[in-house]
Amino acid sequence: MKAVLVEPQQRLVLSETPDPAPGPGQAVVEVEAIGVGYVDIMYLRDGATSVPGVEVVGRVESGQRVLALILSGGYAEQAVADPDQLYPVPQNLDSADAVALGVNALVAEGAVRRAAVVPGERVLVRGASGGIGVLATQIAHARGAEVTAVTSSAEYGERLRTLGAAKIVDRTRERPGETYDVIIDTAAGPQVREHLELLRPNGRYVLCGGTAGVPEMEAFAPLMANFHNSSTLFTFSLTSVPPEERRKSWDRVLKLVEDGQLSAVRDRTFPLAEAVAALQHVEHGKSFGKVVLLNG
Ligand SMILES: NC(=O)c1ccc[n+]([C@@H]2O[C@H](COP(=O)([O-])OP(=O)(O)OC[C@H]3O[C@@H](n4cnc5c(N)ncnc54)[C@H](OP(=O)(O)O)[C@@H]3O)[C@@H](O)[C@H]2O)c1
Repeated sequence: MKAVLVEPQQRLVLSETPDPAPGPGQAVVEVEAIGVGYVDIMYLRDGATSVPGVEVVGRVESGQRVLALILSGGYAEQAVADPDQLYPVPQNLDSADAVALGVNALVAEGAVRRAAVVPGERVLVRGASGGIGVLATQIAHARGAEVTAVTSSAEYGERLRTLGAAKIVDRTRERPGETYDVIIDTAAGPQVREHLELLRPNGRYVLCGGTAGVPEMEAFAPLMANFHNSSTLFTFSLTSVPPEERRKSWDRVLKLVEDGQLSAVRDRTFPLAEAVAALQHVEHGKSFGKVVLLNG
């Protein structure tokens, strides 16, 4: 098969390589679409992978199309996955859209659920134009919340309105001017501090990404300073979610898609041979939704 191999100096080259050998119980996936995310860049920087790619959609031996979550090896024509990391993809959802949902939908659904958003609450989404944010915006809206989306461009703001955001904050020009019941934060960084100050009494803050970096401990000081507010801070990583829970979360995602309350949001798609360009596009940080690689 062909796969994108990491060569010395982290050079990525599409090469012929032996088909992957499944371990006991593992499934071979004939890969059709591959999700590209910041996590791939981080793994490459850490030298932690020989073939990047942690999520693919393709067919298993039975012919069923599945989303497969893997630790590496996705940038290829075939990948192997553990049976409890396969999630069914319905016929009317194409493979590129299914992978654009993928991990990001599980994170967005899990984060909104952890915050227990109820109708009428005000929800702020940081990083709303990103792969996770475009889905969190829609899911919070579907739960009846009034969503404020933080982005850095007027054009993206307009697109977020069509996804259900009632209000837009352009982070390059302004700060959120209201208080919120829930903040879903995919950016983190030092601005966690000023955003924690925006929580209303009994508010919930879900930290589920770190595009803007890891906050210093002092960023969390408002939790104690505003003790009377009984705020809750969650961190949320998909890694901690057991397979059974992930499966239920995927089912809820598919139900939202079926009901027309959630749609995949794809930025550019690239052929597998242009994996480097796809990663550069993600690194540039200006995509709206998910970047996808396609086989064939
Ligand atoms: N919790 C989990 O299990 C899990 C799983 C996968 C990924 N992640 C993490 O989640 C984070 C987001 O992932 P993603 O795929 O949604 O990323 P993404 O598609 O790159 O989007 C992130 C968005 O954040 C905004 N942003 C960038 N720099 C910012 C800054 N300094 N301050 C505020 N906003 C900023 C940008 O939008 P604007 O410029 O329009 O604001 C960007 O589109 C990453 O750190 C990723 O590693 C977490």
